Amino acid sequence: MAGERRGDRPLELSAFRQDVVAGLSAPRKCLPPKYFYDAAGSRLFARITRLSEYYVTRAELALTRRHLAAIARFAGRGCQLIEYGTGEGVKSRLLIRALRPSVYAPIDISQDALDAAARRLAREFPKLRIRPIVGDFSRPLDIPVRRTRGAPSVVYFPGSTIGNLTREEAHAFLVMSRGFAHRMLVGVDLKKDPTLLHAAYNDSRGVTAAFNLNLLARINRELGADFDLRRWRHYAFYNPAEGRIEMHLVSMTKQRVTLGKHRFQFAAGETIHSESSYKYSVEGFRELAEAAGFETRKSWTDSRGLFALHGLERS
Ligand code: AVJ
Repeated sequence: MAGERRGDRPLELSAFRQDVVAGLSAPRKCLPPKYFYDAAGSRLFARITRLSEYYVTRAELALTRRHLAAIARFAGRGCQLIEYGTGEGVKSRLLIRALRPSVYAPIDISQDALDAAARRLAREFPKLRIRPIVGDFSRPLDIPVRRTRGAPSVVYFPGSTIGNLTREEAHAFLVMSRGFAHRMLVGVDLKKDPTLLHAAYNDSRGVTAAFNLNLLARINRELGADFDLRRWRHYAFYNPAEGRIEMHLVSMTKQRVTLGKHRFQFAAGETIHSESSYKYSVEGFRELAEAAGFETRKSWTDSRGLFALHGLERS
């Protein structure tokens, strides 16, 4: 999810501004986590994935390698592969190699990230038909799959990105996907000892803190706001009742922030809720999938039970 390098996409910029203004105008202030991933944020996220405390990416990669043949059998060779969020594409390459999809359609909110990913893949897989789609999974998409006579379409949604959605949003996302996906492969972080979860989002090097604070820096850079970063702190904790990690930005003082004609007032100790990262037990995710019209045929997990990849089939 490498971010926009230039501020020259007026549509992307005005959507960003609208979402920021809406989030900071809410009674409980919040910001959408999809905006973490500008160029600086994507670099910070790449560093997070290499931290000793952040087990998520390693666990998913290990289980994908280990079960690759079975995963490919489940998805079906020659399928139309649709992937949400391009990222660094390590797992995508594994899958493309194993599946030999007839079409590969990566979806990302950043046109630049998509272009870069598509160029890389085209060099590596010269025969692969690549159909990048700009969009984000919180809104219905126009997916160019051949609904009738084409090969079955498989949606790949790795990285526990689905954890950023509330249960209601995740339900709506799965229902929407059911409209064009015969099968889905969804990577989901598992519920586990809260101490491990806490460490993963409060790393000792402060990379997650920098990732969280970069959201405010990005709002300053791209929208001309005046957040004083010295007056904000990263705060992340596991909320067991909700089954989610919550990341917040805490205002250390009473302060006012200006964004164009908007003024936002913050009390000392008030927070901006910048991300939720829901964790699902295998059973819990199966129930969510079933309610949305999918049967869970397979659930692969890593040897330490940290992460799960679910193979869903339209029921
Ligand atoms: C990319 C959404 C899966 O929730 O673990 C990492 C993002 N936030 N550290 C996650 C994230 C803080 C990550 N996802």
